[in-house]
Amino acid sequence: MIVLLQVHDGHLLAKRFFNSANALSYDSIVKLATFGQDFVWKKKILDIAGNQGSVLDLACGTGILSCMLAARSRSITGIDLTIDYLRLAKKKKSDLFLANGTAELLPYRSGCFDAVVSSYLAKYIDTGMVVQECWRVLRPNGVVVFHDFTYPCGIVGSMWRIYFYILKLAGTFVRSWQAVFDGLDKLVLRTQWVKQTISALKSAGFENIKHTSLTGGTSAIVSAVKPSRS
Ligand SMILES: C[S@@+](CC[C@H](N)C(=O)[O-])C[C@H]1O[C@@H](n2cnc3c(N)ncnc32)[C@H](O)[C@@H]1O
Repeated sequence: MIVLLQVHDGHLLAKRFFNSANALSYDSIVKLATFGQDFVWKKKILDIAGNQGSVLDLACGTGILSCMLAARSRSITGIDLTIDYLRLAKKKKSDLFLANGTAELLPYRSGCFDAVVSSYLAKYIDTGMVVQECWRVLRPNGVVVFHDFTYPCGIVGSMWRIYFYILKLAGTFVRSWQAVFDGLDKLVLRTQWVKQTISALKSAGFENIKHTSLTGGTSAIVSAVKPSRS
């Protein structure tokens, strides 16, 4: 059977944002740009999906989350669109099983993972397709976790707007990150990933769906469990 995947806007954007020019600086930039919150958010993912035997890290990038998971889980598999990011992940931890590909079409057997996690992927994807693939590759009782930025309301929202303005200015000095710093605010403002993910998880048959807002609503986690009877 041949399955064709249509390239969508999220793919094009991700290809524009992440490339060989900014792969090496990614880890420092994510730490700086989130004021260290990235580590806190990833620890929350670990609290839900750590201690699982076999974990798939969707959009693993340079392997920050994969390496954190590796300390707690038996085997870590990662997949990402950007080959230069994957090369760095492999350098950090040579026993990660890595593949260059897309989260919408996973090159894995059905029912082979205990958990599927992702950090900063949800705003780039065809949510329905990715959730279907998560359902397919997860074992019964398997856990799925999506984490990404969200746009807060009220006073934190105003601070977030100022923050993105400063990020845009910074982009004029750091050329390899200009496209990201320029386009991230519109993307985060526009994305409906929390709503779409919850709805796709419900339609697919996932249970125990939970939504947790983090750091004043600047990011969120949506998690769910594939029921044991499936
Ligand atoms: C901001 S980075 C996050 C990397 C890593 N998850 C982390 O938390 O550090 C976003 C990553 O998503 C990847 N990506 C975007 N769309 C993707 C897709 N449809 N399938 C696989 N990877 C994707 C990009 O290549 C990039 O490495």
